[in-house]
Amino acid sequence: MSKLWGGRFTKKTDQLVEEYTASIMFDKELAEEDIQGSLAHVTMLGKQGILPADDVDTIKEGLLKVLQKIRRGEIEFSVSDEDIHMNIEKTLIDEIGPVGGKLHTGRSRNDQVATDMHLYLRKRVVEFVDLLSKLQTALVEQAKANLDTILPGYTHLQRAQPILFAHHLMAYVSMFGRDMERLQDSYKRINMLPLGAGALAGTTFPIDRHFVASQLNFDRVYENSLDAVSDRDFILEFLSHASIIMAHLSRLSEELILWSSTEFHFVELDDAFCTGSSIMPQKKNPDVPELVRGKTGRVYGNLIGLLTVLKSLPLAYNKDMQEDKEGMFDTVRTLQGALQLFAPMIATMKVNKDRMRQAVNQDFSNATDIADFLVGKGLPFRQAHEVIGKTVLYCIQQGKYLLDLSLDEFKQFSQLFDDRIYEVLQPEQVVNARNVYGGTARSQVADAIARAEQELEKT
Ligand code: ARG
Repeated sequence: MSKLWGGRFTKKTDQLVEEYTASIMFDKELAEEDIQGSLAHVTMLGKQGILPADDVDTIKEGLLKVLQKIRRGEIEFSVSDEDIHMNIEKTLIDEIGPVGGKLHTGRSRNDQVATDMHLYLRKRVVEFVDLLSKLQTALVEQAKANLDTILPGYTHLQRAQPILFAHHLMAYVSMFGRDMERLQDSYKRINMLPLGAGALAGTTFPIDRHFVASQLNFDRVYENSLDAVSDRDFILEFLSHASIIMAHLSRLSEELILWSSTEFHFVELDDAFCTGSSIMPQKKNPDVPELVRGKTGRVYGNLIGLLTVLKSLPLAYNKDMQEDKEGMFDTVRTLQGALQLFAPMIATMKVNKDRMRQAVNQDFSNATDIADFLVGKGLPFRQAHEVIGKTVLYCIQQGKYLLDLSLDEFKQFSQLFDDRIYEVLQPEQVVNARNVYGGTARSQVADAIARAEQELEKT
């Protein structure tokens, strides 16, 4: 079979070279976008009088036939046609004859492939925003069911201050909210048209780039033809945003794994999201969060991979840039998998409220509050800190918690203590005392949930 670019060559391509340079094995994923771009391009060629209307109609019909055949799996792509662009062009020519060869007028694969990827990522970004909002919904629902669930909040993975479990979940709602914002913001840089840049310098044909942009619903066209074919920033941005989403998912995964352990036993993931051990009959392993945590590595890898491909790369197109695709597809699939599983896994997660409460009752996470109590009595905070530090040390030596101490015992450390401390030390009181905007007090968290629900209604 002859090559679409065969004219200048006197020898056949080496078989290994053909396989090494081909991208059809993975860029076939861009088939729909490639045809979508070609339809807009050929429509413009007709409107501009560059191709006669008859040819345009024949080519369009041919492209639609090729599309149907691809969808039905009837086309066997071939490595000797290198990539999706030439495979489709070849198939078109087989379908409608030499007139199919007019499609590539005023176009290069360089602006064509860039266009395909803009079309591809544009769809993915919309899907990811939707998947993130579904995850937010699951988190908000769990938060609503846990507005009275108190657990220790941690810093350094040491118990710090009691918080509402709802508050902890809502932290993730905020994180995923920023992820959605980042994706939505990147849309304006994804939603622009490279086509018309030609190989690098533009084209001699009187094309209308703005018409093609409007046909494809792009908001604008690239200003500079060299930039149009060299730019992969929009993919880098996507890979960065995906990496940050995975960072967030991996933090939540880590917490779910810890919380599912016998040591914590704060939550139980539904059986449908866990697996067993082939040897230890008692085991129920949190494989899904473990794998999400693990797959975070490949998503970061794909970002670093493409950053490195682009480093020092001279303008304009270089074959190196073909390496932009596999990592992008892999990140899309990895992120889709993680987000699709996370929403139902959070929705079906059983929260062990009693166990969380028990943990709070058996720790010193209310210590700050009695320090604040003494401050209320006029003691400088630094001195109050010292007094409570000694009180806690005494408790540890006695095998007691603060609420177990008698008033006399408290008074050994400061005469300022009185009966009210027993109220101050209650977990509900400790939580509700943090009544600042964004704090863990029940009413603040209820407000945060209401605001999140309002936002979710807009998406
Ligand atoms: N398969 C190529 C890629 O993905 C398409 C562009 C090829 N252009 C070229 N001049 N060889 O980058």
